[in-house]
Amino acid sequence: CGIVGYIGSRQAQDVLISGLAKLEYRGYDSAGVAVADGGQIEVKKKAGKLANLSGELSRDPLPGTLGIGHTRWATHGLPNDTNAHPHATEDGRIVIIHNGIIENYLGLKEGLISRGHTFQSETDSEVLAHLIEEAYTGDLYEAVRTALSQVRGAYGIVVTHVDHREIVAARTVSPLVMGVGEGEMFLASDVPALLPYTRNMVFLHDGDMVVLHDDGFRVTDLAGRPVERPIDRIEWDAEAAEKGGYDTYMLKEIYEQPTALTNTLIGRLHDDTGEVNLDVKLDPSSFKRISIIACGTAYYAGLVGEYLIEQLARIPVEVDVASEYRYRNPLVNENTLAIVVSQSGETIDTLEALREAKKGGAKTLGVINAKGSSMTRELDDTLYIHAGPEIGVASTKAYTAQVSAMLMLALWLARARGTLSEEQAQELLHAARELPRLVEEALSPERVERIRQVAEKYAGARDYLFLGRGVNAPTALEGALKLKEISYIHAEGYAAGEMKHGPIALIDEKLPVVVIATESPLLEKTISNVQEVRARSGKVIALLSDGDTENARHADDVLYVPRAHEAVSPVVNVVALQLLAYFTATALGKDVDKPRNLAKSVTVE
Ligand code: G6P
Repeated sequence: CGIVGYIGSRQAQDVLISGLAKLEYRGYDSAGVAVADGGQIEVKKKAGKLANLSGELSRDPLPGTLGIGHTRWATHGLPNDTNAHPHATEDGRIVIIHNGIIENYLGLKEGLISRGHTFQSETDSEVLAHLIEEAYTGDLYEAVRTALSQVRGAYGIVVTHVDHREIVAARTVSPLVMGVGEGEMFLASDVPALLPYTRNMVFLHDGDMVVLHDDGFRVTDLAGRPVERPIDRIEWDAEAAEKGGYDTYMLKEIYEQPTALTNTLIGRLHDDTGEVNLDVKLDPSSFKRISIIACGTAYYAGLVGEYLIEQLARIPVEVDVASEYRYRNPLVNENTLAIVVSQSGETIDTLEALREAKKGGAKTLGVINAKGSSMTRELDDTLYIHAGPEIGVASTKAYTAQVSAMLMLALWLARARGTLSEEQAQELLHAARELPRLVEEALSPERVERIRQVAEKYAGARDYLFLGRGVNAPTALEGALKLKEISYIHAEGYAAGEMKHGPIALIDEKLPVVVIATESPLLEKTISNVQEVRARSGKVIALLSDGDTENARHADDVLYVPRAHEAVSPVVNVVALQLLAYFTATALGKDVDKPRNLAKSVTVE
């Protein structure tokens, strides 16, 4: 979603529309603005493209020099005019915009309704407007602070009140940046929206609150204590700004993974009770077998799903590439759950395979990133991964979000089928909730620098081998795929134990072999495979869990990764392999965002 705010002497509507247009690449399904003009705030919102809204505003402008605007990607409630932002209180005196998800909104909403509040939309966001109204005693900033102390979840929130010439904003997971002008202030969810107006920007951190006036701003934490945030001078051009200052979309998206994972998991896992709430209508206890169908990177996420679902929920799973499934006359019936995994929701083979599964009577569930995409219109149910737009052709954040979704599905099925005790479920849910933090840790500057050095050391290799076992066997496949996609070095991924049945013939002193050897009951077996590589003079690059100095001696190069529960380790481990591919490709001067011959979304057979 995109947010823009303005306070100053220009017509706010123009700044809002131009800013929202710059955020279009984030994708959205509705847009809205609120403009304050002395004694009133007027709201206008429209489903569909921004042009619907801007067209109406040019015919019938909203005059005023303070305003907030939003483009929305629906999470709760359909993308229609009512559910679009901004949301106002009944009397129209307080208007808010919210990005993110309020996890405890149902409880809060019931409470508010019992205290006489009436809701106009189905969104979780509207509870914020009512909570602020309830807390308001003349100081808007204090009212927002009180309201936020009651909510659990992720938010970027922007608020204005008819009696105050100010904008109050706060953020946790959702990003917010402030633009500092002369006698005017700007706010946006991303830099490109503000570049035409100012290059002086303040990046807000998690837990920051800010009050914007015509001639300045004040930042505090959620407890009300003042916080110092520097004004940075941004020298990026417009294109660099869309990449958030990173060299490429792919690198930006690799670094967005902690946030993407937070958005995938939030509100769905309850580690206190061991429950999983996926908000899907299908009955998880009604299936006898599961078919997972996908292409490319999404297929590898499906393979991780096979391990997790069979392990945890004890139900037979098969995984197919969609182009095979659709033509192999698959065995399907009404007891089959067909799960299609697709970032774009448009890949033609996956779409056709979905139709094939439906024809056979299967119930269908999608693990999808792109809202409203073709598959979502034909699926019985969709589990959105909420990873946000992915622009780099080689998939990164969509993959880790898909794998996390697979874990959630495995837990959802396991709980319904009674194959996990409450305690086991709690432990796994807890491990899943740790993922954003672990991935953040996997992206620490020291680790990234080490991976860059190793990538450069081996960038001259002609071939690469990737090995992994169990739930990380698919991680090896994905590591090899990333490398070949963007560096054009030939790479194979193999189950570690299978190496001796073929690829071992390729090993010589020129072959780098990446071995995923992180904590697992089968680690010793993987280390035996490492010895087999060494005995034939292969170069071993070992992925080891932090603290494993014992096994480091078997490797030529070690990449340490954060210790993680084995069930979530595919998400943590793959980050190092994404970076290895990335730095290899950049060392070779390749265009990582647009690798040759590949397309982001393949809509031809
Ligand atoms: C293309 C992309 C891959 C992607 C695959 C499946 O080949 O280059 O990155 O994994 O399609 O795409 P989907 O949108 O269905 O996940």
